[in-house]
Amino acid sequence: MTKKQLIIELEKPQQRNAKLQQPIKEHTAELLKTNEQLNQGIEERKRTQEKLYKEEYRIIAEGAPLGLSIIDKDGSYKYINPKFVEIFGYTLQDMPTGREWFTKAYPDEECRNEAMSFWVNDVKGAKPGEFRPRTFTVTCKDGAAKIIHFRPVAMTSGNHFIIYEDITERKRAEEKLRIYQEQLRSLASELLITEERQRRRFASDIHDSISQNLAISKIELDELRKLISSSSISRHLNKISGLISQTIEQIRSMTFDLSPPVLYGIGLGAAIEDLAEKMQKQFGIHIHLADDKQSKVLNEDLRILVFRAVQELLFNVIKHAQTQEVKVRISLARDRDNIKICVEDDGIGFDIAETDPYLYRMGGFGLFSIKERLQHLGGRFEIVSEPGQGTQVSLIVPLEQHTQTTTS
Ligand SMILES: Nc1ncnc2c1ncn2[C@@H]1O[C@H](COP(=O)(O)OP(=O)(O)O)[C@@H](O)[C@H]1O
Ligand SMILES: [Mg+2]
Repeated sequence: MTKKQLIIELEKPQQRNAKLQQPIKEHTAELLKTNEQLNQGIEERKRTQEKLYKEEYRIIAEGAPLGLSIIDKDGSYKYINPKFVEIFGYTLQDMPTGREWFTKAYPDEECRNEAMSFWVNDVKGAKPGEFRPRTFTVTCKDGAAKIIHFRPVAMTSGNHFIIYEDITERKRAEEKLRIYQEQLRSLASELLITEERQRRRFASDIHDSISQNLAISKIELDELRKLISSSSISRHLNKISGLISQTIEQIRSMTFDLSPPVLYGIGLGAAIEDLAEKMQKQFGIHIHLADDKQSKVLNEDLRILVFRAVQELLFNVIKHAQTQEVKVRISLARDRDNIKICVEDDGIGFDIAETDPYLYRMGGFGLFSIKERLQHLGGRFEIVSEPGQGTQVSLIVPLEQHTQTTTS
């Protein structure tokens, strides 16, 4: 083989290789092109997706029934939704910086400093995703003051997202309800006081007219009896005199029930002692009274209220405690500026939660009205009871009274 032939022979595989590599190159180029097209497709899809997401978020934010905003790390507003503008009246142009918002929303310096310090502290301690709700009164663009519940949350990007809820109407309605409840309490108390005054007037009218006349008639009759010698007439006169005595006694008892004179003349301790004695006799229950004998001066309205409340609690024992030999313990004690009156029985007790709805019925002098009336006069009412465990009711009454005692 010549040298030339040898070279030709040696070059043959290279030529074969070159021939083979050509389609591979072409194929690779094609693959690269497809890959690039695929990548472009993915990018495009990503962009479309993002656009879609943005569109969805935009729709949610624009249609949200709550105000929304995004504030960047420097405290500048990046976005506010239409509801934000509706609530506050401010637009993004009104608040080029966060400081501008504080100046406009809180014209009062003290309120502004308070809101700002809350914001600064919250931002410092904010964990991404954690809501830090706050309520502030904000001044709107038209000057109206609105109570706003803020729910700011830090995002991982460092921006802050805030949800704003206008709770002005709700708060006003709550306040109205509170005032209404207080008026009802006041009405209930006034009713009791007026009722007591009327009872007292009836009682003294009966005492001053009927009882007085009966007493005089009895004296006259007894005088007449002395002058009459006929035993048969005397017998009749004796009978009439006895009946008059009985009537006088009945009227005394009736006027006592109507308005215990003891309520007006003596202190609360003595009035309750008197009541306990009467109820023991009348209903055969055992009442133990413990009085720490400390001074317990209450104004007339409160004294009457407490007396009637204790009377109702004792009637409750008789009506509901349902044990043959129920024992009642009444304690009267001075506890700093309060008087604590406790009525405790060892009867069947009751489930307070179950009885609750009944306590809310109106009328009568039940537990509900004791609670409401006491509360109105600055006192408190506590009840502890369980089936089989007896009942303990405490009335806590402040000694210092700020309520007015009207006279009529
Ligand atoms: N001392 C008591 N022992 C057991 N149950 C009681 C006692 N006091 C009150 N209750 C329960 O609480 C309810 C509400 O009492 P109250 O408001 O005074 O209304 P009333 O006496 O007109 O039923 C009673 O119906 C009774 O079920
Ligand atoms: Mg009752």
